[in-house]
Formats: sequence, C-alpha cells, structure tokens
Amino acid sequence: MYEFDRTPDHRNNHSYRWDMPDMPDDVIGMGTADLDYFCAPCIRDALLPIAEENCYNYRQRTDEYYDAVCGWYRRNHGLELRREWLSNVPSTIGAVRMGLGIYAHPGDAVIVQTPVFQPIQWAVEGADCRLVDNPMRIVDGHYEIDFEDFERKIASEHPSVYLMVNPHNPTGRVFTESEMKKLVDICYRSGVTIISDEVHGMIVYEGSRFIPLLACDERAKEIGVQITSLSKGYNIMSLPHAIIAIADEEKQRLWMRQIQAFSFGYATNSFALAAVTSIMRGEADGWMAELREYLKGNLDLILSFIEEHGLPLKAFRPEGSFLLWIDCRDAGIGEEHLDRFFMDSAHIHLDDGEDNFGPEGRGFIRINFAVTRSILKEALERILRAFGNR
Ligand SMILES: Cc1ncc(COP(=O)(O)O)c(C=O)c1O
Repeated sequence: MYEFDRTPDHRNNHSYRWDMPDMPDDVIGMGTADLDYFCAPCIRDALLPIAEENCYNYRQRTDEYYDAVCGWYRRNHGLELRREWLSNVPSTIGAVRMGLGIYAHPGDAVIVQTPVFQPIQWAVEGADCRLVDNPMRIVDGHYEIDFEDFERKIASEHPSVYLMVNPHNPTGRVFTESEMKKLVDICYRSGVTIISDEVHGMIVYEGSRFIPLLACDERAKEIGVQITSLSKGYNIMSLPHAIIAIADEEKQRLWMRQIQAFSFGYATNSFALAAVTSIMRGEADGWMAELREYLKGNLDLILSFIEEHGLPLKAFRPEGSFLLWIDCRDAGIGEEHLDRFFMDSAHIHLDDGEDNFGPEGRGFIRINFAVTRSILKEALERILRAFGNR
C-alpha cells in the first residue's frame, strides 16, 4: 500500500502549482499538471547511489536503459521498438518543437485538435508555423474528433504536420484504435507527418486503452514521430527526459541531425536515466496501479459531488490524465477569466479554459485533481459555498 493521503510540503519546495507569488495563504493549487504525491520508492533508490557518488559526468544510455524502454513497450503495448529508433531530449514540448522545426517549414500549416494545451500552440508559433484548428465536437456529452473537418482542412490547408495530443489535454479523450487508424489513414494518403505527444499515456482509466502511435498501424511507422515522457504519470517533471521513437529511416536521419546540432546526444541527465530505467523495468508498476485507483476515487468523488449538490457544472469524465475539463457556460459566472471567479470566491487556483487552451475553451475550466482526498473535499466544499453565496 502506497501513501497518497500524505504529501510533501509543496508551499516550501518551490512547487510551481502551490508556491506561486501573489496567491492567498490558504489557496488550493489545482492548476499546473503535476501530482502532489510522493513518487514510487524505486525512484529514490535509483537516485541515491548517484548522489552518494557525487559525480555528474556525461552519461551514456546503457543496455539496461534500452532493455527497459523496449521491454516496457513490448509488455504494455505489444510494440517492438528497435534501439536505433530511440533518442531523448529534455522535454516533451521541446521534442514537439524540434519536430516542427524538422518536418515543417516556416509558414506551413500544422493541424491540431482544439481546445489544446497552450504550450502546444506556443510550439507551433515558435516554429513560425500556422496553427490550423480541428475543433473537437461535443456529441452526447462526449468529445469526438470531427473527421470531416479534419479531412477538409487537410485538403484545403495542406498541413505538413498533424500534431496529435493523445491522451488529449484538456478534454481527457483517449483515442480509440479505430479513431487512430482513421487519422493515420488520412495523413498517410495526404503525405502528412504525425507528431504524437503521448505524455499523458500512463494514466488511463478502466474502459479505455491508450495505444502509442507506432503500435496502431504499420503505416504509422512510416509517417510517425512518437514522443513520450514518464514525467506526468510518475511525477518526475524535474527529472526531464522525453523518449522519442522514429521508425522511418529518413525521418530518423533528419531527427538525429538535429539531436547532434543541439548536442542532446550528450545531454542525458544521469538522474533521469536512472529513474526512467527503474520505472520502465516495471519497478513502479504496483505504485502506478494504486495511483490510478486513487485518482479514480478522486474523480468519482468530484462527479458525484457535482451531481448530489446540483452544481451548475458539466464535467467531462476523462478517459485518461488527472485533469478534469468542466463546462461552466450555464453556471451564471460569465465566460471570461473564470479562474478569477474560483480564486476570488473559493481561493482555488485552476486553469481558465480560454486563456490556457484557446478560443474553444471559452466558458470552461480545467481542474487538476491529483491532490489528497482531504484537500479535494475542502476544495469541493469551497466551490459549493461559492455557488451557494451567489
Ligand atoms: C499534452 C502535454 N504535453 C506536454 C506537457 C509538458 O511536458 P514536458 O514538461 O515534458 O514538456 C504537458 C504538461 O501538462 C502536456 O499536458
């Protein structure tokens, strides 16, 4: 049994989420997407010997590392990766941005399902590309990909890259095999490269199955750039290490040219390598199973609380991630800067839909529910009072 009800003191560890300047002393941080919990013990065990040795020279990726990464994909996803397909850079978004620099040219269109996590938009802008939106559609209270719009925009805008975010942030959708095959089919026929950000792929709830891009269809291996990181699932954001898998030889050659240009082949952080090796060997599997249960408990609690108290909030149960996307358009609190309403009336810091996820997020909020059960209960009571007091 792991401990998720007790956490480090995030107000004193420079947490981005809890220790932000100019927030009230009793604020509850439910914004930035990290977890409040202590990590799996195998991570500390992997890091301590490195700190004991106290030498941080350039490090190679070892056979153990490659075996762990390949073993992970084989065990969890039935995907056979080859060592020569793999590389790493310090962050997921860094890898996305690098991919845009390689497979798109300035001025090119890049198609993305919106609303979408803002740094994805920044990566597209930073590459001097044009973001072409493919808005997700709400059908019977569930977000669906609008394939007609996707195909139409591919035909009219000729994007060089489709930037897939799966599991999708903020809607929490985990794309099904048939959705993925359809996306791959359209992109393959149109010569569009798929860059897939799979950082939320570790936390997926019963009833859904996360499929890495390269596992969904053989053709994906020709057009796909698969990017993941253990940061979200295992709470190792400050041990930065994104893992990129590219099967196509020419795409891999172009990628490695930039790995060399940025000198990322040398920039492997010894702590990150050790943590990733231990997790991918399976040493944190038990911890992850319990984490998912705990998060599901939090999610169930929020959804039943909203229903029991008749709160004017429409929540979209995520299939993956620890982020809950909520439609507040019928709540009578306006549609702009909704984070201010929750901050002012409940001292809860969360992400505003429009400011953080673009125009399709207007009138929505996103809550990070990876907090302890007792903090979650306190937050829900505050929200209830905020609506009761209006
Ligand atoms: C879809 C998505 N990609 C990437 C990131 C950030 O990952 P990294 O810190 O490895 O760049 C996040 C963080 O919330 C995310 O939601």
